[in-house]
Amino acid sequence: MAEIERTYAKVKKVGGLAGIVAADSAICTVGIEGRGLSYRGYSIEDLAASSSFEEVAWLLLRGNLPSPAELEDYRARLRELRRLPPALAGMLDSIPPGDTMMGILRTGVSLLGNLEPERQGEAPYEVADRLVAVLPSILLHRRGKKLPLEEQSLAGYLLHGLRGSAPPEELRRCVDVSLILYAEHEFNASTFAARVIISTLSDAHSAVAGAIGALAGPLHGGANEEAMRLIESYADPREAEAGVRDRLERKEKIMGFGHRIYTVSDPRSGVIKDWAARLADTEEHRRMFAVAERIEKVMWDEKKLFPNLDFYSAIAYRFCGIPTELYTPVFVLARISGWMAHIMEQRANNKLIRPISRYTGPGPREYVPLVKEERT
Ligand code: ACO
Repeated sequence: MAEIERTYAKVKKVGGLAGIVAADSAICTVGIEGRGLSYRGYSIEDLAASSSFEEVAWLLLRGNLPSPAELEDYRARLRELRRLPPALAGMLDSIPPGDTMMGILRTGVSLLGNLEPERQGEAPYEVADRLVAVLPSILLHRRGKKLPLEEQSLAGYLLHGLRGSAPPEELRRCVDVSLILYAEHEFNASTFAARVIISTLSDAHSAVAGAIGALAGPLHGGANEEAMRLIESYADPREAEAGVRDRLERKEKIMGFGHRIYTVSDPRSGVIKDWAARLADTEEHRRMFAVAERIEKVMWDEKKLFPNLDFYSAIAYRFCGIPTELYTPVFVLARISGWMAHIMEQRANNKLIRPISRYTGPGPREYVPLVKEERT
């Protein structure tokens, strides 16, 4: 008991299970000295510079990089799996307007669990590949878009679908890189939620639906949309500086800054910031970029806080023409590969995740029934 109290005292001091190692995992390193962020041993910088999202999804799910032939087959397989079952399309259409796209994706995954339940003994990648392929179709269908099924990559499929025409190569590559950056990040809140659900021997669709719910919150994936709303609320860098200082004085959080694990920078932020800078080719874009940079400076000067992946992803997505309300859903399209890798890893060596709490409620109390039963 004394040992439990001692351990708990440490956990409580920082809160939120910060610094607690919850399990072994061979998928990703986050902020480990000398390694930084890496997926299955490959640095995020190398992957972002030269790989594609499909290659990374294969790597996360299968453990090794695909050969050129495997990658070609995998791309073809994902293209096949993009098709929406008509029953799912019909059910998505029956959801009343007004729900967020995160709600639609969560419901879509859940419905798919009814229509295509996991089969006993099914190859572990079946559900993973299906979800990687079909989630963008759910999003596009719900937006009333035609599905450009012929597109080779997820990035091209998404952008082509949203724009209604083939996107320029540069935008395609920016979205591809952002999907790589968003694909995996160890035991973040949504991934951990998925692992908790799967640890009860529940099904993958339930775990993914839970993970989508966890990702939706502004302290996690929802931060990219909030960051955009903040950036576009300022007309110029001076206004942004005054506005952010004001918010900090009121003890408000600035979304897109800070991180639970990184302490001086988020290695993904520089990569996506470079892309945002590269795509800022109009007066309006350059103004927005200058506003973002000024916010970054104020946050560092005032709080020693740095932008996380969500901050510059917000304007990179704006420059790619992605509507703000789809930023967090696009995060889902990438992170599904990481979630499914963790679901498979948890299953391979499962132990029910069930911590304990320290009771702080009332002491023993006498129960007095509200109505005394008449005894005959
Ligand atoms: N803006 C202003 N202050 C902040 C911010 C921020 N973005 N982040 C942390 N702080 C401050 C807190 O107010 C707190 O100050 P205090 O000690 O004076 O009370 C201190 O820094 C510690 O913050 P916590 O929230 O307790 O630290 P935690 O490790 O729990 O936070 C988190 C991590 C949730 C990411 C936090 O930095 C935050 O809320 N950031 C904004 C949301 C965000 O950008 N989320 C995206 C995460 S990355 C991703 O999902 C890809």
